[in-house]
Parts: sequence; structure tokens; C-alpha cells
Amino acid sequence: MVWDGELLRLLDQRELPHREVWLELGTSGEVAAAIRDMAVRGAPAIGIAAAYGMALAVHHGEDLAAADAVLRASRPTAVNLFWALDRLKSVPPGGVLDEAEAIEREDLEMNRAIGRHGAELVPHGARILTICNTGALATAGHGTALGIIRTAHENGKEIFVTSCETRPRQQGLRLTAYELKKEGIPFRSIADSVAASLMRAGEIDLVVAGADRIAANGDAANKIGTYMLAVLAHHHRIPFYIAAPSSTLDPTLPTGDLIPIEERSATELTEIEGVKIAPEETPVYNPGFDVTPGQLITAIITETGVYRIPYTFGEEVTPST
Ligand code: MRU
Repeated sequence: MVWDGELLRLLDQRELPHREVWLELGTSGEVAAAIRDMAVRGAPAIGIAAAYGMALAVHHGEDLAAADAVLRASRPTAVNLFWALDRLKSVPPGGVLDEAEAIEREDLEMNRAIGRHGAELVPHGARILTICNTGALATAGHGTALGIIRTAHENGKEIFVTSCETRPRQQGLRLTAYELKKEGIPFRSIADSVAASLMRAGEIDLVVAGADRIAANGDAANKIGTYMLAVLAHHHRIPFYIAAPSSTLDPTLPTGDLIPIEERSATELTEIEGVKIAPEETPVYNPGFDVTPGQLITAIITETGVYRIPYTFGEEVTPST
């Protein structure tokens, strides 16, 4: 994402991996639409885009309360969106752009720190399962769960990644595969339903996923299908890690039951690339996220350290596998 002084230029993630199309957004409403329609997606990236949306609102003399409201209404689950907008509320209009840039800069620093902490949990030769896209595209750069994979690879660990396709929007197949390929990290993509038999076959050593919102007790909302992986990992006694910056923590919610789960349109399921697959008017339930209970998470990795149950974020625990 690039602020060019007048406009926010945004790589349209819907067009990847086949085309690199840059959108030029001039109003907070356009940024809100880009978040809602998932041209930009991934919890930290959504927060950063919203911050630049407010910078656009200031720059073009929009009603700031209305801009804040329209951005807040764009997507409900990733708390980073609300965290970024709340942070801007304490800043005078003249400081909003600087603050947006600081949010972006700090996110990159947090991701690199997550990568450092997390890579210590990755054994040499590890075969790692991940879901959705948690990489540079979903953040200011480097990534969270994918940032750990990236750091482990940079550190010379011979890792092999299995990337879940991530139905129905296929962030894993389209975006994670795109990033892993670019980085030269050995990987393969699988349909989500392959994970169980791979674990049973002993082909997965650890699972690492991102998060969109983590409640005070460690319950973590992430892309739909993450909970399923955590249950499988528990059954097969495989470590299951969540990686996220502290901007994804929501200490106001005691448990994950209170996390709002976005429900997306039926066509995400009933159509593929605009081609109708299901019978007309098939009833659909299409939640974008699920919540993994903290008890199923081996550790949560943030920029400040590695946390284990009972989660008291702020008091890090020495990394160990
Ligand atoms: O619906 P999306 O693609 O925005 O969902 C993204 C995820 O669930 C990611 O795993 C999460 O935001 C972490 S991104 C670093």
C-alpha cells in the first residue's frame, strides 16, 4: 500500500496471483469499499488501510466522524480495524497521516519480532501446515504466521510448508502460494480436507496460523477452518501456534464467544470465478471466521514473546517446543 500525497494506492488482492493491479483510492468511502470487498484483506492490512482512509478524509476535508463510521462498518471481525481507528481518535487531524504511517511502520517491526520469536519454535527440517494468507500481503510486510516461516527460512532452517487452499476465497491457494513461490520457500498446496490424513500420516510437525482477534483468555478468531486444524492437531499431538501482533489482542472480550463473526455472501460458495456451481437459491451458511479455544493453542506468539495458557499477555514465557 502506498500513500502518494493525494491518493492511497493499493494492490488489489482479488486479482492476484495472475495480475498485479493497483487501485487508486481517493476517499474514505473508497477505502471502506476496498476493505469490504476484500481488495485489501488480512487483519493488520485492514487496520493500516483504514488509517490511511482517515488520512484521505482529513486531506480532502471529509466529515471525519462519518469517515470513521463508514470505515468501522466495513468488516466486523478483525479488531485491528477498530484498534487503528481508536488510535487515530487521540490524534489531531493534522497528525493523522503521520500516525497512519507510524501504524504501518510499527506493524512491520512487530512482524519481524514475531518472526524472531516464532522461528525459535520451528525445528530444523520442520514440515509446517498453515492456512489462509498471513504474509506480506496481509500486513505491512513480512507477515505473522508466514513471517515465522519466512524468518525460519532466512535463518537457514530447511522447512517445508503445506498451505491449505482456504475455501471459499482461496487465500491460501492464490496468495500464500504466490508469496512462498516468490520467496523460494519449498511448499505444496492442499485442499483443506487433506489436512487430517496428512497429520495421521505423520507428515506435519507443527501448525501455525494468524488471528483476526484474540480474546483475553486466548480464544482466537481466524479464518474459517482454523478451529478444525486445531482440533486435528490436538488429536494428533502436533503443536498448534497462533501468531499475531498485539494490535490483534482484544482484552475487552473475556472469551472468544463474544467475537463478532462476519458472515459473507452466499455467492462466495455457490460460484467459482463467477461460474454458478450450486443449484439456484441453494441456502448457504458462509461464516468468514471461526474461534479456536485457547486450550487448543500450544502458544500464542506476539512481538513481545511467546505466551502459553493461562494467557497473561505482557509476561512472556521462554520459547520452547
Ligand atoms: O478474510 P481475510 O482474508 O481478511 O482473513 C484473514 C485471516 O483470517 C488471516 O489469517 C488473519 O487476518 C491474519 S493476517 C496476518
